[in-house]
This record gives sequence, structure tokens and C-alpha cells, in this order.
Amino acid sequence: MEKELIIRKIRDGIVIDHIPAGRALTVLKLLGITGKEGLRVALVMNVESRKLGLKDIIKIEGRELSKDELSIIALVAPTATINIIRNYEVVQKFKVEIPDVIEGALKCINSKCITNKPREPIKTRFITISKDPLMIKCDYCGTVYTAQDIENMLLRSRE
Ligand code: CTP
Ligand code: ZN
Repeated sequence: MEKELIIRKIRDGIVIDHIPAGRALTVLKLLGITGKEGLRVALVMNVESRKLGLKDIIKIEGRELSKDELSIIALVAPTATINIIRNYEVVQKFKVEIPDVIEGALKCINSKCITNKPREPIKTRFITISKDPLMIKCDYCGTVYTAQDIENMLLRSRE
């Protein structure tokens, strides 16, 4: 008999599959899920994947994802697949996509950047200059960020 890790199917919610191994906790944190919301969440880390070697999976019952959340997931887990589950069936499946332009979701770390001037409430804007390896740049001051910078930036903004 084949031995496998059994995590039961969910009834309604989302399954974020094919997350690069070890990144599930980062994704959860970026979604603001702490466990205190009372949502039923299943987390699987470092399991075999045909496509990736090892992967993580997150299952969240009774939750949806906004467009901004999908963009943020793409930035830290570009291989992720989103499965929308309704009444136990996968009703929608799509890959996250690194956006060409990221507006509002990130904060530039350059203190001299115009987006950090307290009197000028400007929405931040970053332009993707490379998807693999990931590199984006602030459209206002030109500061360039790598994948690791982006993760640090995202985590810091949610502390
Ligand atoms: N899933 C779930 N609950 C359901 C239906 C699906 O938790 N009611 C999970 C599955 O366990 C799997 C993911 O959602 O992790 C996608 O399901 P499915 O499309 O059936 O699996 P695969 O065909 O293996 O997906 P893929 O081709 O994207 O790897
Ligand atoms: Zn800037």
C-alpha cells in the first residue's frame, strides 16, 4: 500500500498549491492569517511534487483572495497555483502571475523617495524589470529590489 500524507479535502475555500518549499509561513503571514481569525487552515511543508521537487501547500476554508493578495503571493511564491474550491470541487485553477506594475502594496525603503514624504500622499508604484530572477524598481526614485528585498519589505510592512 502506498504511504502518503493525508490531508483532507476542503469543502469551500482556497488551496494554494505548488508553493516553493519552505515558503508557506511567509505566504500565511503576508495574508495576515495568524490563526486568531478562527479560519480552518491546513499547512503542508516540504512534500514531494512532480514539478518542483519539494513544495508547500496551504488550504484555507471560508476565505477568498483579493487581487492585491494574489500579486503579493506571486512575488514570494511565483510557482503557486490557486485552486478555488466550492462544494468539494475545484471550480477554478490558475497560476499566480507576477504583475508588471505593483501599486500600493509595497513601500519604498528609500527615505528620500517622494513616496515617503509625509506631506505628499502618493501611492507607491513599482515596475517589474525582471521576473526570473525577480527584480522590481521604484517608479519614483529608481531603487531596485531583489526577491529577498521584496520579502523583507513585505514582512516589515506587516509587523
Ligand atoms: N483540494 C482540496 N479540497 C478539495 C479539492 C482539491 O484540498 N475539495 C486540493 C487537492 O488536495 C490539491 C489541490 O486542491 O492539493 C488541487 O486539486 P486537484 O486539481 O484535484 O489536484 P491536481 O490535479 O493534483 O492539481 P495540479 O494539477 O494543479 O497539481
Ligand atoms: Zn522610491
